Amino acid sequence: MTESTEKLTSGMQPAGAVEVAGLPRRQALCLAAAACVGVGALAACGTPTASKDTGAGEPTADAPHSSTSLAKVSDVPVGGGKLVTDQSGLRIMLTQPSEGVIKAFDARCTHQNTIVDEPNSGAMTCPNHGSRFNAADGAVLRGPARSPLNPISVQISGGNVVTA
Ligand code: FES
Repeated sequence: MTESTEKLTSGMQPAGAVEVAGLPRRQALCLAAAACVGVGALAACGTPTASKDTGAGEPTADAPHSSTSLAKVSDVPVGGGKLVTDQSGLRIMLTQPSEGVIKAFDARCTHQNTIVDEPNSGAMTCPNHGSRFNAADGAVLRGPARSPLNPISVQISGGNVVTA
């Protein structure tokens, strides 16, 4: 047995280990970090219920809302559409049923979630079982789907289609 393993097995902490009586390990580590790098390190050491979203990661209910550009309006053909993906990975079908009017739908077919094709002749067709949806309002034109495509709220800003 080496000297270092003797120390570990005899109940001593290995080099760098932190132990503060009565504190959970995370808080103890934060105290040690603060001692090394200053008070700024404490900002990341709050309890999970006291922490605030700083803009990184998942948004919270009180986080400021920001719009995200999905496409340029000019990329969405009049009478047609364009399939895009938002920041969360959601596939969104943008359509432009008439010039300057942009509609957006969750592109998942309401039958079994297959991504519908871009509009053709005013309708989006699901390649899986053939459901068809109106490109202007997402309404079911032909089943087996029974529910319309779910609308997504968007607006036009500076020539871009952005989330509303
Ligand atoms: S998944 Fe679209 S019609 Fe069945």
